[in-house]
Amino acid sequence: MLQIPLALTYSDVLIVPKRSSLSSRTEADTKTRLTGAINLNIPIISSNMDTVTESDMAIALARLGGIGFIHRFMTIEDNIQEIKRVKRAQNFIINDPYIVSPDIKVGEAKLFAQEKQVSGLVVADANKRLAGLITHRDLIFADDNSLVRDVMTARERLIVGDKNTSLEEAKLKIAKNKVEKIPLVDANDIVIGLITSADIYKKGEFPMANVDAKGQLIVGGSIGVKGDYLERALELIKAGVDVLAIDIAHGHSELMLNAIAKVRAVCGDVQLIAGNVATASAARDLCEAGVNGIKVGVGPGTICITRIVTGCGIPQLTAVMEVSKVAKRYNVPVIADGGIQKSGDIVKAIGAGADTVMLGGLLAGTAESPGVVMTRDDKKYKVCRGSASFVIAQRRKSINQEKNNLNEIVPEGVESVVPYKGPLAEVVGQLVGGLRSGMSYTNSRTIKELQENVEFVRITPGGLRESGAHDLQDVK
Ligand code: XMP
Repeated sequence: MLQIPLALTYSDVLIVPKRSSLSSRTEADTKTRLTGAINLNIPIISSNMDTVTESDMAIALARLGGIGFIHRFMTIEDNIQEIKRVKRAQNFIINDPYIVSPDIKVGEAKLFAQEKQVSGLVVADANKRLAGLITHRDLIFADDNSLVRDVMTARERLIVGDKNTSLEEAKLKIAKNKVEKIPLVDANDIVIGLITSADIYKKGEFPMANVDAKGQLIVGGSIGVKGDYLERALELIKAGVDVLAIDIAHGHSELMLNAIAKVRAVCGDVQLIAGNVATASAARDLCEAGVNGIKVGVGPGTICITRIVTGCGIPQLTAVMEVSKVAKRYNVPVIADGGIQKSGDIVKAIGAGADTVMLGGLLAGTAESPGVVMTRDDKKYKVCRGSASFVIAQRRKSINQEKNNLNEIVPEGVESVVPYKGPLAEVVGQLVGGLRSGMSYTNSRTIKELQENVEFVRITPGGLRESGAHDLQDVK
């Protein structure tokens, strides 16, 4: 008789509790690997879906210790701006501060500051010789028709630093002189950087933030395997993206392997994640192709209908286990993408071998996700839609200036609403708290220990029912 193997998902299993030496869940360290070269302080990634990750989400999540992958369903120009917004959100030192001429009108400077979302501007001549500084306070009551040179704080009154000024020194100068910004200049008074009190403050405010060598938040970008993908990859790298995900529905395809080879040839050794896949043989092919991370998940997502439309997919726990087994041999980290409904699923995904999890629906309803909050019957919602939904397929056609033949579209994703959940920090706080508790139940102080210590048991529908709150009166 034909043997059909069993495949399981998160709700089919539980983790066996172990004797634990952790006296508090705060002893559990959630540091993990995103790729061979990039570490995260918490194993949470926001999905590159248009209702989940643009710059606001990526900034907020990187500050909490995770990373956001900006979606690609926008023009390359908009995509570049989204990446740049994340990279400019905070710095140790701003190496290329926005500069205006002393001879422009205040109205122009105000517009420029507004457009770049900064509270002040360095004023310098055409050779970048420092002339002054204008801050929000200088601009707010100034006449739009006056000149910047007449309202700026002039060079003689500025507290400046040089290339050797450390953050600590800058902090002392800022406190002592009650200023907000310290321009950095060379021996000829040419502007070489800027340190702001806001950046110093953010460094203390977000101790878990994942930053690059310049103190800028890390961010991911995503590309496909057709059309503008190579140009997009190059432009995102130029804009400062830290890692790229080649993200398509069926990542175990020759299109994918060709795209990996081309991106490597054109973009060199950029940190490259590829997906989505769900089998050991796919993992082997992607590892052999030289990727730095693998994304796992064919059809488990909140808005996915791939399994219904195509009949294909693998329940997510088995998929993560199969892929991780192979990826470990190549020392390539694994992202469990899709199907995470509760914090317990994160513990199970990591226990099954994943290094990080990617979340879509769970983060779609937060304040930082793109889109507006809607109110229906006194309840608040935000839109969540699949990247293979009808709307996105149409948008892609219009970005690529393709003919819009609607009959050709076969959606593998849906569009719906999810409850509004408020600030990301609260949602992530609960998820990470649950993860840490799960680590404590399994006597795991690190993500690696969790992967080693996990022992799963399969449960029945009765066990599943017992696992949630049950048999309570619904008191209104
Ligand atoms: P969750 O469960 O976190 O899953 O909402 C997010 C992941 O779902 C994938 N995704 C899709 N899968 N059709 C699919 O079959 C789609 O339209 C679609 N859009 C997103 C994606 O991997 C995402 O990270």
